[in-house]
Formats: sequence, structure tokens, C-alpha cells
Amino acid sequence: MTILASAPMRVIAVCNRKGGAGKTTTSVNVAAELAALGWRVLLLDLDSQGHCAVGLGVKAQAGAACLHSLFTNPQARLLDTVRDTGLENLWLAPADQLFEHGTGVRDELLLARALADPAVAARFDLVLVDTPPSLDLLLLNALSAAHWVLVPFVPHPLSFEGVRQLMRVLFKVMSNQNPGLKLLGFLPTMAAENIRQHRATTGDVGRQYGAPRVLPGIRNDIKLAEAFAVGQPVRAYAPSSRGAQDFSALASCLTQLLA
Ligand SMILES: Nc1ncnc2c1ncn2[C@@H]1O[C@H](COP(=O)(O)OP(=O)(O)OP(=O)(O)O)[C@@H](O)[C@H]1O
Ligand SMILES: [Mg+2]
Repeated sequence: MTILASAPMRVIAVCNRKGGAGKTTTSVNVAAELAALGWRVLLLDLDSQGHCAVGLGVKAQAGAACLHSLFTNPQARLLDTVRDTGLENLWLAPADQLFEHGTGVRDELLLARALADPAVAARFDLVLVDTPPSLDLLLLNALSAAHWVLVPFVPHPLSFEGVRQLMRVLFKVMSNQNPGLKLLGFLPTMAAENIRQHRATTGDVGRQYGAPRVLPGIRNDIKLAEAFAVGQPVRAYAPSSRGAQDFSALASCLTQLLA
């Protein structure tokens, strides 16, 4: 079932320049939740660590085109990089683990042009872009191609600084390459409500950027790390876990925001 057959394809960039903020865990599990709700989802892995393929159990294929081929081969087409994940409604354009960040074609609109291919819009309802923990050309490509930005953050003070740095880049992209870019929300990850510092940092983000922009968070749950290690979304690995409940609630909230 396709929920949004008549709606235009949405593109969400999942970003935070801070490493280990939960970007990939969020990308993989939001993608899986929305796919289970009937959206045809394409996950793009812009981070050459290649963790999306690990989290979905997609094996590397020697010689196959990867998402980063777009940056190294002018003939490469996005659809040629798309792989089945074995999950209904969910596809992956995996990263090239050999891609050296800082190399490749220096064009910040390359991904936006690749996604403008009508054949891509005909196949997918939603594109989620997992990004590397950096403020480089790949991040600019994601922000220039996206309609929405989702910012996972671990609620502690250092991570608030990462959010602030990202927001400065975001505002620049909004006033230059991509005026239509909108903030989908800030997502507290690995959160513990009983830790005062977590509550304080989440409150700070809400005060600075608007409380309604803080999404229902993802609690700390080892099942999320375990699911990742065995190459499954948490909804398949541990359906009754806290992590699965939180990603399911987040997906319901996102479907309303994207409607
Ligand atoms: N809610 C959670 N509870 C427990 N562990 C989590 C949770 N979210 C993420 N993790 C674990 O934290 C680590 C970092 O998460 P993840 O890889 O998603 O972050 P990232 O922002 O993508 O990192 P990078 O910047 O390196 O790409 C991983 O080992 C992941 O399994
Ligand atoms: Mg990651």
C-alpha cells in the first residue's frame, strides 16, 4: 500500500556535525518505520563510514555503483546505485567506504540535481539522507537537496554547541542554495528523563529554537545498538523494546508534520 501515491516526494536530511549523535540510528529506524507504514522509502548514505548498510544488513557488492559514485563519475545515475534491503518498501543507496571526504566533484547542487530526476520521484515517496559528522561539501549537498532537516542530538551541553554550529550553516543554505528548506525538528536521542542535564539541554534547545520544534525523543536503549549490530531495524529485532516504541511514536509524529 502506498499512502502518498499522489503527493510529491519528500527529502529529509538527517544532520548534526557532532559525531555519535544518533544520525544513522535515526535514519535507519525512521526509514524502516515509515516503510512499514506504506511509504516507499529510499535511504541515501552520504557518510563513507557506510553504517546504513551495516544497520540494514546490506552486504557490500564489489564493483557496484555507490551513492558517492555521483561525486566521482559524471555518468553515474542515482537509480543505478539503489539496492534492495530485503524489507518491503525500503531501498538503500549505500556509501562508498573508500570515498575520501574532501575529494570528488566540488558541486554542492549535485545531489539536488540527481533527486530532480522524474524517475526517482516516480519510485519513492520519501528520501532520507544520512550525513557525515562534518560541515563539508557532502553536508551542503544534503541541505541543498532537502525539503526538511531532522537534527538528532544527545542532550548534553557539548552537543548543544554542535546544534548551534549546524543551525548557522542551515540558515546560510536557507538564504542561498535552498530557500525552501525547513526544520522538521530536533530529536533528543539516547535520552534519560531522570538525568537533570538531559532535561536542561533539551529545554535550552527548545528555548533557543522553539519548544514545538523538539520532537518526542528516543530513550537510551541497548536494543538499538544490538539491532544495529545484527543488521536489523529495531522494530524487527526487538518489537516491544523502548527503542521500537519510541521510533514508532516518532514516525507517527513525523507523518503528521510531513502531511
Ligand atoms: N537511543 C539509543 N540508545 C542506545 N544506544 C544508541 C541509541 N542511539 C544510538 N545508539 C548507539 O550510539 C552509537 C552512535 O549512534 P549513531 O551511529 O547512530 O550516531 P551517528 O550520529 O550516526 O554517528 P556518526 O557521527 O559517527 O555517523 C551507536 O553505537 C548506536 O548503536
Ligand atoms: Mg552515522
